[in-house]
Order: sequence, then C-alpha cells, then structure tokens
Amino acid sequence: MNAPQPDVPAGCHLIALDSVGSTNEEAKKLAQSGAESGTVVWARQQVAGRGRHGRVWVSPPGNLYLSIIQRPDCRPADAPQLGFVAGVALAEALGRLCDIPVALKWPNDLLVNGKKASGILLESAASADGRMDWVIIGAGVNVENSPAEVPEVTSLCEEGAQIAVEALLSAFLERLFWHIAQWRELGFEPIRERWMSYALPVGTQMRVKLPDGDVLGSFSGIDARGSLLLGSDGEARRIDVGDVFPVLATNERAN
Ligand code: BTN
Repeated sequence: MNAPQPDVPAGCHLIALDSVGSTNEEAKKLAQSGAESGTVVWARQQVAGRGRHGRVWVSPPGNLYLSIIQRPDCRPADAPQLGFVAGVALAEALGRLCDIPVALKWPNDLLVNGKKASGILLESAASADGRMDWVIIGAGVNVENSPAEVPEVTSLCEEGAQIAVEALLSAFLERLFWHIAQWRELGFEPIRERWMSYALPVGTQMRVKLPDGDVLGSFSGIDARGSLLLGSDGEARRIDVGDVFPVLATNERAN
C-alpha cells in the first residue's frame, strides 16, 4: 500500500520520489519544460545532491530534500530574496514542531546550536524580456543525520528534536507558500525584518570568504536588497557573494 501523501498548501503540486540525482536538477528540467509555479519535487534521498558553490550535499535517507519551482516574474536582482523567504519559512516551521534554538546565517543557512542543519540553493533563469522566468528554491534539512566528514554540521535529531520528515515538509511548505504570497504583495521589507529576528546577533564577529580573499568584521544586518552588511575597519561593507564563518571568542569555542 502506498504511504499517504503529506498535506500540502493550495497551489502546491507535489512530486514525491524515493530517490533522485538532485531535486534541483529535476525541478530545473520541469521548469524548463513549462511546469507551473508551485510545483515541488521531494525525494527521500539524493545520489547527486548539490550545495552552493558547486559543493556536494550529502543526501542519505532520513533527511528532507526538496525543490520548489516559482515563477515570480520579478527582476533578477530581487530573485535572491526568495532564499531569505525560505529561511524564515523553515525557521517558523521548526518553531511549530519543536523547541530547539535556531539561527539564520547569511545568506541561507539555518544553524542549530551554532552548527549548520540546513542549506538552501537557489537556481534561476531569466526570460527574453529580462524578468525572471523561473526560480528553483532547493532546501536540504538534516533531520535524522548529518555527514560525519563535514565539520560544524548537525541534524535536528542530534540536537534532540525528533521530527518526522513528512511533518517538516508540510509545515515548511505551508509557511513558505504563505510568505511567498506576502512577499509578492508587500515586497522584501517584512521578510527582512523577520529574517533579522532569527539572525545571529548583530555584532557577531565573522570571517567572510570572498572570491578575492577573506575579510573580518562584525555582522551589522542585511540591507533592503538582502546584501550582507559587515562592519569592518570603521566602515559598513556591503557583500553580495561570500561564505560566512562566525568567529567564536576563545572562551566560547567548543571542546
Ligand atoms: C548549501 O550549500 O548550503 C545549499 C544546500 C542545498 C541542498 C538542497 S537538498 C535539495 C536540493 N537539491 C539539491 O541538489 N540541492 C538542494
């Protein structure tokens, strides 16, 4: 007998797979062949899961892997805002299902007790008119397990939260579709504020790996476009692309 399909919000068309290369790749093919906005590809495992900057996303059974197709008809410069929408939706979904402390780290990571439990990979293409044709929001959440070979990662289970993948999928999609509708109507500011309420504290020292080298500074927030604001050498620096590593004070470092 087939397992019952998880509840999904109105306007969501869920494609559930046991195993796939990458849900983002699958969603991309569907988007390129005209799939409608709201189509979601969910897989129990991925054998070629990918992360940001061409990294591998280790994807064994037990975790959540999904990719959501959106056709927001926005300017390309606004498309990255959907990563912040997804981060907020995930933080809220977890808040409904458990009471572990979560924090959002720019641009799109969700941390539990300082370790990464989720990442988001956006992929997109523009139409001939220069507006966005499609955006794929790919989200991976370590629910049951995290890769032992990757430093500073964790899973919800390792942090004490027992959550069924299906329950997280439903709660995340409910929050995500709600916030996307709000974002389309009201723009980025409400999401920016909500994202900041889950962010690492302003003032957190961080090292940011940029294409041309590292910079050290203190987290000052995100701006009206979603760029990272980093206080460095008495100036607020605006950063659009980079990897962030919070710098712990010596007495905060884990044993
Ligand atoms: C990151 O590097 O932090 C982003 C990780 C994104 C992983 C998810 S899992 C579902 C979707 N399919 C993929 O191949 N990647 C994303």
